[in-house]
Amino acid sequence: MSNTPVSLHDAGEGDEPRCNTSSNPAFSSIIEARLSRRGALLGGLSADLGAMFVQPAPAAAQAATPAERMLGFAAVPTSEADRIAVPQGYTARVITPWGQPITGSMPAFSTRNTGAEQGMQVGQHHDGLHFFPIEGRSPDQGSSTDGLLVMNHEYIEPRFLHASRYAGQRLGGSAVVIANNQRDTDEVLKESNAHGVSVVRVARQADGTWAVRNDPRNRRITGLTPMEIAGPVRGSELVRTKYSPDGTRTRGTLNNCAHGVTPWNTYLTCEENWAGYFRNGTTVDQKPDLPREHARYGVPTARSRYGWELAASGADEFARFDATTKAASATEDYRNEPNAFGWVVEVDPFNPASTPVKRTHLGRFAHEGVVFGPAVEGRPVVAYSGDDAVFEYVYKFVSSRPYTAATANGSLLDEGTLYAAKFNADGTGEWLALAPGQNGLTAADGFGTLAEILVNTRAAADKAGATKMDRPEWGAVDPRTGEVYFTLTNNTRRQEGQVEPANPRARNQFGHIIRWREANNDHAATRFSWDMFVIAGPEAASRDLKGNALAADSLFACPDGLWFDSAGRLWIQTDIGESEQNRGDLAVFGNNAMLAADPVTGEIRRFLTGPKGQEITGVVTTPDRRTMFINVQHPGATTTADAFAAGTFNSLWPDGEGVPRSATVVITKDDGGPIGT
Ligand code: FEO
Ligand code: CA
Ligand code: CA
Ligand code: CA
Repeated sequence: MSNTPVSLHDAGEGDEPRCNTSSNPAFSSIIEARLSRRGALLGGLSADLGAMFVQPAPAAAQAATPAERMLGFAAVPTSEADRIAVPQGYTARVITPWGQPITGSMPAFSTRNTGAEQGMQVGQHHDGLHFFPIEGRSPDQGSSTDGLLVMNHEYIEPRFLHASRYAGQRLGGSAVVIANNQRDTDEVLKESNAHGVSVVRVARQADGTWAVRNDPRNRRITGLTPMEIAGPVRGSELVRTKYSPDGTRTRGTLNNCAHGVTPWNTYLTCEENWAGYFRNGTTVDQKPDLPREHARYGVPTARSRYGWELAASGADEFARFDATTKAASATEDYRNEPNAFGWVVEVDPFNPASTPVKRTHLGRFAHEGVVFGPAVEGRPVVAYSGDDAVFEYVYKFVSSRPYTAATANGSLLDEGTLYAAKFNADGTGEWLALAPGQNGLTAADGFGTLAEILVNTRAAADKAGATKMDRPEWGAVDPRTGEVYFTLTNNTRRQEGQVEPANPRARNQFGHIIRWREANNDHAATRFSWDMFVIAGPEAASRDLKGNALAADSLFACPDGLWFDSAGRLWIQTDIGESEQNRGDLAVFGNNAMLAADPVTGEIRRFLTGPKGQEITGVVTTPDRRTMFINVQHPGATTTADAFAAGTFNSLWPDGEGVPRSATVVITKDDGGPIGT
């Protein structure tokens, strides 16, 4: 091939599907339909469903204390500035930026760091995160000054990761340099090591600031870390490879977007846009010939996103990203390697020697994150998860075995039922079981076993008739009512004829947040009733819970991150794609932001705005709610190829110089009070 460097470009931008910015002429009529439907929902449903929806759950008495205001801060305005802004009376400070040393020989950050050094440092492109109190007994009770911060690193920006090597070249955001049809092996290693999960001990200092502590539990899990495959897919023919002929193990976790926290104090990291890390060049009659478990997820036929399969060393750990059928049997090549990705992966942050486990019963798709219903002694464990791609589905897993606090562990996730959601037009909904013999899933269509169904979760949900959604991102469960909220970030590909009440807008540029209540407030139920919490957008094209337009203090677009704090405050984070930020119809929203909402009144107020080119993603507080951690991902992603070639970046956050770096932000209230009050 060529002797000159070439660039690879993703089909999409960054890690998001492309968005178009056409306006939506039919919006007002859709809003009218929604409002009248909401009226019907609250007043005209059959007696049992109507009562189910409006009746407060018994836990409602545990509201924030009467003195605690849900939205007690002054809104911050939209911003195009290259900084973090928080309300008056709050302070935001940066910790754990990409490249911060946390383990091993603790190599200092430099854009010249080697691949091995990156494996001892915080990864790039921070996403979901959780603060585990240091006692290690509960994910949400214990120390509020000392703990393990565990976070995902979703993807990479090669031109920043290799800023020293790539300086002066005209490169876009996902481009890598390929020469002689090979990639530099250490660049590939560095990219793999910049993915995955970081476990970092952090503690509050005497002066009130937070700092990283050296700790034997500090750990990097990367695209190369050995992992177990558990659940119904373990040992299946579909995951047998040269590396694991018995189909029980694989290497690494990739594109770790949002996360989950189990009731038994472990961390779940979710594999989202993993398909692009592979290629499958298998052909029949000179035409691509991909199995459905690759084709339905978009595994490329030419080159992978970063070309790892082209690593000059030819090492097996990188060659495996070429899933082309090359040998006589699946245990002699990597035709099945992509089937080991697309899962939820369990990590025990308190045991640095533990092997992460891919929990296959939660399904295989573009997992955004996972959120649990409240764990109730003697009842099943229930976990909700969204598949973030256009027209994909919302799922829930219900365990077969009941939860028992004293003995609960990850094996609870290995036996149960995976369901896909169907949102009916009348405000009711159904959970469709994805299991052999149910909802049209039969051996005749290749769904004869649970392993076949789970590896092909999307195809199974298609067959079962689930509702095609506008890119389900994070979910959150209201601790006071048990209602489940999900962000639908946007879907500009929805046509007028595809509009239906749960996805009420054609060419949905701005997204919405839906919520539902399970029948009889039982998270294991197979029926639910749903409503729209907010339709995001500018004043002219948005509606809050009360039917009013969003205004200067509340307007937002492309909701993504979503989290309830323990007082019942809903935090909403935005991810307007970098090619849309501060442009066209999206200009009014400024840089990506975080807002807080009162789920009872529906009031929404902007709490934080971020620097240029980034998205805000990941949010958690300490148990006392007096320290909040959020992540800023991909600052400066709006840097053009020409600007990069000229040595300038669109953002200098957080250092004010050098390459932009994803980082965690610690937010405290100057009077020491809970965040948001
Ligand atoms: Fe990684 Fe769907 O956001
Ligand atoms: Ca993103
Ligand atoms: Ca996201
Ligand atoms: Ca997103």
